[in-house]
Amino acid sequence: MLDANAVDYETSIPNNVGLSNDRRVLKALEKWHPGYLDWWNEMGPEGFQESLVYLRTAVGVEPGGWAKFDYVRMPEYRWGVLLAPKEEDRLIGFGQHKDQPAWQEVPGEYRAILQRLCVIQGDTEPASVEQQRHLGKTAPSLYDMRNLFQVNVEEARHLWAMVYLLQKYFGKEGRAEAEGLLFRRSGDDDKPRMLGAFNEATPDWLSFFMFTYFTDRDGKMQLESLAQSGFDPLARTTRFMLTEEAHHMFVGESGVSRVIQRTCDAMKQAGIENPFDIDKIRALGVIDLPTIQKKANLHYSLSLDLFGSEISTNAATAFNNSLKGRYKEDKIEDDHQLINATYPVLKPVDGQFVLVDEPALTALNMRLRDDYTRETDGGVSRWNRQMNKNGIDFEFKLPSVSFNRSIGLFSNIHTTPEGEALNQDEFLSRKDEWLPSSDDGAFVSSLMEQVTEPGSFAGWISPPRIGIDNKTGDFEYVRLQ
Ligand SMILES: [Fe+2]
Ligand SMILES: [Fe+2]
Repeated sequence: MLDANAVDYETSIPNNVGLSNDRRVLKALEKWHPGYLDWWNEMGPEGFQESLVYLRTAVGVEPGGWAKFDYVRMPEYRWGVLLAPKEEDRLIGFGQHKDQPAWQEVPGEYRAILQRLCVIQGDTEPASVEQQRHLGKTAPSLYDMRNLFQVNVEEARHLWAMVYLLQKYFGKEGRAEAEGLLFRRSGDDDKPRMLGAFNEATPDWLSFFMFTYFTDRDGKMQLESLAQSGFDPLARTTRFMLTEEAHHMFVGESGVSRVIQRTCDAMKQAGIENPFDIDKIRALGVIDLPTIQKKANLHYSLSLDLFGSEISTNAATAFNNSLKGRYKEDKIEDDHQLINATYPVLKPVDGQFVLVDEPALTALNMRLRDDYTRETDGGVSRWNRQMNKNGIDFEFKLPSVSFNRSIGLFSNIHTTPEGEALNQDEFLSRKDEWLPSSDDGAFVSSLMEQVTEPGSFAGWISPPRIGIDNKTGDFEYVRLQ
């Protein structure tokens, strides 16, 4: 008997959704495929399309044990359509349709909003590939290069995931949106990607690690709330995407931690105790801790903007209509409908920040952002424990949610990372204290040099504790061609 969760690699498009019996969708995807490959070749990792990369490919969709590792040329990666196993008789867990059977088709009245959710999610996936396409040329090791490419092929697979939903469930409009996802370009003046953080540059590897730590985690939170959706195909799609996402966040957190470790080691070796002795530390060829903090400030604040306005009727509607739930909705104990519930929202009032109770339904973006901040803070605490162990007196901190914001309640005010109000001139004149300056950027860029000797690492980052797929330190993760 065919295992319902096994992935069919016989068709041109690997899948576990029975594509070979779904002619209409198979045809639509096959029609989309060449344009996708053009996009990958034009916008995917620059200069490495011929290289053999030790990548994981999904062979099943159960948590754990789903991957097989092998050398693959990236354009030949088997991008596919993979949904988490179907839960029989699943009931909707929240909103006005709570306890009704999950929908297997799009409810007509929610078509537009569901389509929009898929398009916005879908747009971020190729955007990050575009942002990171030049990083292979400065990879600090083959291990890191492989991790970058793994993230890239999986983000590209996430594009497939959303395109499948658009083509299967949203007809002609869905097909047009699927084309649009290949048309927009990160950072392009005329046809930018839809969300701000996805049009920013990822100029160096520290930015890449910060991006995967902070911005991929926003992605995770969005996917978590879509994984609760009453529209079952969306819930199952995003649930499987989450299993891939975990690796991306590992790359970010461990990447930053390895940069920190290398800096601590170099400082200790040189007998430098003061982390603000920046010139001396930089002369060692490592990234000083204050610059790492500035990068974190930037990426955290950009990522907070991705949660949208704190008070949002769109968020309320999506929840109320049982389309987008809360983080871990199924673990929360309440009515799951938020009738009469309130949620405290931090607001600027006369130069002070105060918590104001708002209807919980309209404050859902705020709540998700708070969940995000809590998780993000966890990693920052781990970096600080590492500082402690190294005996270096420096503490990483997340900036205030009021700092450097472009969207929501804080977008019209300026503050320090500690949340003290400033006027615009003060902010602009002191900005370089808190955000990477062009000098900081130039310094970090000056360290970025490609290292391709198996087992070797650039001088600004320490080796990982364990290899991918339990490989030993000198494993050749990428065979350059
Ligand atoms: Fe993704
Ligand atoms: Fe990701």
